[in-house]
Amino acid sequence: MTILHRLGGLFLCFALTLTGLHGASMPATFPQRTATSLNGVWHTIVDPYDTGYYNYRREPYDAEANPGGGYFLDRQRQDRSELLEYDFDRSPTLAVPGDWNSQSERLFYYEGSVWYRRRFDCPRAEGGERLFLHFGAANYQADVYLNGRKLGTHIGGFTPFVFEVTGAVRETGNSLVVRVNNVRQPAAVPTVNTDWWNYGGLTRDVRLVRTPATFISSFQLQLQRGTRDRFEARLQLDGPQRTQRVTLALAGTAVTAEATTGADGAAVLQFTAPGLGLWSPEQPRLYDVTVTAGTDRLTDRLGFRTIATLGADILLNGEPVFLRGISIHEENPQRGGRAYSEADARLLLGWAKELGCNFVRLAHYPHNEHMARVADELGLMVWEEIPVYWTIHWDDPATLANARAQLTDLITRDRNRASVVVWSVANETPVSEPRTRFLRTLVDTARGLDPTRLISAAMEVRTDPADDNHKIVDDPFGEFTDLLSFNQYIGWYDGLPDKLPHVRWTIAYDKPVFISEFGADAKAGLHGDRLTRFSEEYQADLYRQTLAMLAKIPHWRGASPWILCDFRSPRRPLPGIQDGWNRKGLIAPDGTRKQAFAVLQEFYRAKAEAPAR
Ligand code: GCU
Repeated sequence: MTILHRLGGLFLCFALTLTGLHGASMPATFPQRTATSLNGVWHTIVDPYDTGYYNYRREPYDAEANPGGGYFLDRQRQDRSELLEYDFDRSPTLAVPGDWNSQSERLFYYEGSVWYRRRFDCPRAEGGERLFLHFGAANYQADVYLNGRKLGTHIGGFTPFVFEVTGAVRETGNSLVVRVNNVRQPAAVPTVNTDWWNYGGLTRDVRLVRTPATFISSFQLQLQRGTRDRFEARLQLDGPQRTQRVTLALAGTAVTAEATTGADGAAVLQFTAPGLGLWSPEQPRLYDVTVTAGTDRLTDRLGFRTIATLGADILLNGEPVFLRGISIHEENPQRGGRAYSEADARLLLGWAKELGCNFVRLAHYPHNEHMARVADELGLMVWEEIPVYWTIHWDDPATLANARAQLTDLITRDRNRASVVVWSVANETPVSEPRTRFLRTLVDTARGLDPTRLISAAMEVRTDPADDNHKIVDDPFGEFTDLLSFNQYIGWYDGLPDKLPHVRWTIAYDKPVFISEFGADAKAGLHGDRLTRFSEEYQADLYRQTLAMLAKIPHWRGASPWILCDFRSPRRPLPGIQDGWNRKGLIAPDGTRKQAFAVLQEFYRAKAEAPAR
């Protein structure tokens, strides 16, 4: 039975393109649209002094206004006498997607600008079709030029962005030039200091998306809070024909719904579907959902579940659950570079499943969209995070706007992924009034965009000045989150593992406790006794003693130990042991499972069979 609903613009709808500092925000429906890939080999010019930028910073940049053409804007010499000091056609190449650091020894540590150039043809747009350039991400700032005209700028290294290019694309010989700059900046998000490699470049897919004149720009379908059979879809159109009949259907079921969008192009469709299989890690049921609006038709594979907390418990589909997690950086350790593909996602998440996980923490920034889609399929709950990491500039309005834009773009992109159950707004941020105010704003932003998921952050732990074994979790930010999450490194940064049995905890909130990080470095193949730093035995012993300690915390409901795989970090130089890698992985870059892998795997196997509380 379907109920037809059409509300005016009384509910959330997402602006199709947020222009300005952070460039255009991406329509949520673009990842699942068929598109022309612009991936492949791009010519590139390394520009450490930004010669190609500062010579022509007049904004808005326009080739007509600069008859001499822009520097690095894909020009060929017109006459033998002409002075031109660059030529993309004869410049080196880089593969897109992919960071530049892992593709070229001379760019391994490079922080600066690289200009990318890709030529492409484009069949004429028919019947009012619209064209968009869609970037999965570029780290950290991207300035995009098409056929000599600047389209705009995007800031933020891990979120998608799009520029409409309808009418600006020729049928042949289009020139797409992108300046990517990855220089770390104090007021940026993240700021200048992180414990991961500053991979720069066009790190994810670049696509040319074609849509009807009026298309479905965003579409969200979720169980209504507190129900197991009542659904609500929110749909937004973009284009001239805002009032259209829209339909929704779930393949393999009798469920259909329809509505007519209002003058604002928005519609809410509500329907009941008794007996629909709910998504869970044990049974990751997914349904092909098709929505249509006029000539536009989209299909996405969606799962349905509820997630909530009640006192100390986390409830998945109303049942208490223990989060058997692991933290993951977006890096393919075998390639030693940014992960970006479905194959990379299957490698990393396949290892998490082998470990016995039902949960992964995608640290410390939005990962590529393949991760949540593959997690939907494999049955892994997901914590996604924005890089509000360590010492952010809490008093800078531009920094807050940047963080909010990254959070908005992450939620807009992944809010239909059943696997995503936690939005995290920060990691290890020193307690202060400006910091808690900044984070509170992010919580309000997240809840406004998506009231259906849990909110958290890796918060601070403090030590009782009178007793080094007494750890206190009373971070004021804990008042605003659903999970009380924190990182703790007792036995690695704080004493030795034998300290762990003596530790006692004071938890100031009646909320589920989630340990978002614990761990120790171990060089795979390095052996010694359990007090030999960087040995596999030390790491394994710390895991055993940490898990025993955590079991004493009454509200403990999950963990994502640090970390699935060793990962590159410029902060880890110890020769012969680290060599530029953080070695806290349970798996080495060559795939070796360290001894601690089996310790956690055994704990999770037993946990899977035990009650959640
Ligand atoms: C911190 C931080 C991680 C870092 C880890 C470490 O908790 O959140 O990003 O890599 O500690 O020191 O290994």
